[in-house]
Amino acid sequence: MKIRIFNSPHDAGIYVAALAEQIIESRRKPVLGLATGSTPIPFYEALVHLHQCGLDLSRVTTINLDEYIGLDSSHPQSYSWFMWKHLFSHVNIPKENIYLPNGVATDLEAECRRYDEIIHSHPIHLQILGIGVNGHIGFNEPDDTLLSGTHIVELRPETVMSNARFFNDIGEVPKRAITMGVQAILQADKIVLMAFGREKAKIIAKSVYGEVRTDVPASILNLHKDVTVVLDRDSAGELLDESGRLRTK
Ligand code: GLP
Repeated sequence: MKIRIFNSPHDAGIYVAALAEQIIESRRKPVLGLATGSTPIPFYEALVHLHQCGLDLSRVTTINLDEYIGLDSSHPQSYSWFMWKHLFSHVNIPKENIYLPNGVATDLEAECRRYDEIIHSHPIHLQILGIGVNGHIGFNEPDDTLLSGTHIVELRPETVMSNARFFNDIGEVPKRAITMGVQAILQADKIVLMAFGREKAKIIAKSVYGEVRTDVPASILNLHKDVTVVLDRDSAGELLDESGRLRTK
């Protein structure tokens, strides 16, 4: 794993946007796997800025990691709404190239299979990931097993609690979601895991320097050959020695 530590999420976002530009410019039909949460916002801001500076996104396809079950795209806390607010409404990615799971599909199992087919026919060149406080990636929660395909997940209490900050009341936070599985994530050509803030320092150390374990889902990224972990000084806190240098694993 490559580790890059920045002075601020803003600087980190610019770096990740530059990585995305390399992929976009080098592919005829670039496919980006995208994430939600507060962490990738500086990346989206920088990508929008690059677009305003001339980067064309009209050949890009995007595939999002996950969506809450029960929230339709008009709900301000749905991940679809989030993506339109932070990225899609500011750039020229064609609407028909944008994919998110449908959290209000009448047949959710069929929706999972539909999403797997989309992923299968659009292999992901660059996968952006955040990380939950418990180590989840997408909504692949810590468990005895990790599932390979797109699936329905019961969110863990700590995830519901952590995501409650985006809702008026914890009771409004959906308890289930649809998430891309770990196989789709690991099949991406390149993965960028982003994390900022002190509350992510412990789980980043466990994921990056610990054993590969299903109860630390992000640790499976150690099995991939091209992962860049993008941190700020706070989230990197437990990877550094007293003199501020990266500890060896
Ligand atoms: C949600 C998303 C994850 C994201 C996580 C962290 O649970 N499903 O993909 O990584 O939130 O959120 P934040 O970046 O706000 O800490």
